[in-house]
Amino acid sequence: MMASRYTLLLALVVFTGLLTACGNLASEPEIVSTQVPIMDLPQNQNLTDRQQAGLQIFLSHCASCHGEAGYGDGVVAAEANIDPANFHDPAVSAGISLEAWTQAIREGRVDNMMPTWQGALSEDDIVAVADYTYSLSQPSTDATD
Ligand code: HEC
Repeated sequence: MMASRYTLLLALVVFTGLLTACGNLASEPEIVSTQVPIMDLPQNQNLTDRQQAGLQIFLSHCASCHGEAGYGDGVVAAEANIDPANFHDPAVSAGISLEAWTQAIREGRVDNMMPTWQGALSEDDIVAVADYTYSLSQPSTDATD
């Protein structure tokens, strides 16, 4: 009985030691993220001031579903099994004016899990985020597609 307790204690000590060693290892060579900062993505260069403001709103209110880069692959979308628009697909905005696009954001499409933004965001913010997301689907401003 005693022996097995000591064995257990010893195992704990060794285990803790290992954890500490691993902790030290992990903190040694800092692994630099290979992810490109969002502002440096080709799609986010040459933005107008209004689109720049729209990008910030997008990151805080829309990226959870539409994905940080706007591919419709946000974490909430994956978890809730919903299918947000991929803003890089030109078909998404084909034949839709910027004004109609803006209106779609104001109204949302609650049946399909796209929230209503009128009231939740100021009109200025809606116009800015509409401008930004609309620009993603315009081939001329998106060098990634
Ligand atoms: C809770 C998840 C969610 C959030 C948050 C969200 N969306 Fe969406 N969005 C969706 C879904 C789902 C669709 C697809 C709706 C459909 O298929 O009818 C969509 C569609 C759209 C569309 C396409 C409308 C069209 O005409 O087809 C636009 C534009 C859009 N979202 C903009 C935004 C903006 C801007 C924000 C942030 C202010 C935002 N969304 C936040 C889920 C979301």
